[in-house]
Amino acid sequence: MPVTTQQLIEWKQQRRSIVALTAWNYAIAQLLDAAGVDLILVGDTMAVVLGYPTTLPITLEEMLHHASAVRRGVKRALMVVDLPFLTYQESLQQAIHSAGRVLKETGAQAVKMEGGYPIMVETIARLVQVGIPVMGHVGLTPQSIHQLGLKQQGKTQEAQEKIFQQAIALEQAGVFSIVLEHIPSQLAKQITNHLSIPTIGIGAGPHCDGQVLVTSDVLGLSERQPPFAKIYTNLRETITKAVQDYAVEVREQKFPKE
Ligand code: KIV
Ligand code: NA
Repeated sequence: MPVTTQQLIEWKQQRRSIVALTAWNYAIAQLLDAAGVDLILVGDTMAVVLGYPTTLPITLEEMLHHASAVRRGVKRALMVVDLPFLTYQESLQQAIHSAGRVLKETGAQAVKMEGGYPIMVETIARLVQVGIPVMGHVGLTPQSIHQLGLKQQGKTQEAQEKIFQQAIALEQAGVFSIVLEHIPSQLAKQITNHLSIPTIGIGAGPHCDGQVLVTSDVLGLSERQPPFAKIYTNLRETITKAVQDYAVEVREQKFPKE
């Protein structure tokens, strides 16, 4: 049975951890879905596989193109698509337009938007009211890289209180889940215990209701990874070796055989 936003909330109540990963094309999405990943995020971190230095340059058109390919590979997982930088912050109208295009043109079930500051919470509340499921994202929000860098957020008591309040405000606005990125484990635990919607952590410790990682990091495809990523296999090495073996066989005329 396909995973729904309601299902994620039930899993939180049952303390069944939610497994999330990112995908950027059909092949990856199809493999992740068949392997039983619960939530597939078309994250703007696909910047990594497109060769951009940050997530900032990604356009809505690029997200729509890749998300459509991911959709063709996903049968069971809940599919969520990031709205890229400056495709939702400008106005409520812009946010509805961008999120609407994602849902109508790709078949994804939900969008994700960064930030828990008051105007963003208002925008998200309106999107939810018109029928667009939204996932929140607080803590380290990489679209603000030029203000925050990529370092852990919530270092001071004051900063922690702010993130905590943002998470509460997002739940009240109607998000079905929140990504907590690169914040102290104890803060993620407090938020997770306080909210009735599931938290999905990345670099936020073991107490969240689920975990997400960037798939190109997990597979060892990224040129560099954040400190909290775990590399489960090294595809850069595997691919390099396969390509070198092929090149040798072609040059030595061992492939193809007669
Ligand atoms: O773009 C992305 O991959 C994300 C996850 C890190 C949550 O937003
Ligand atoms: Na993202």
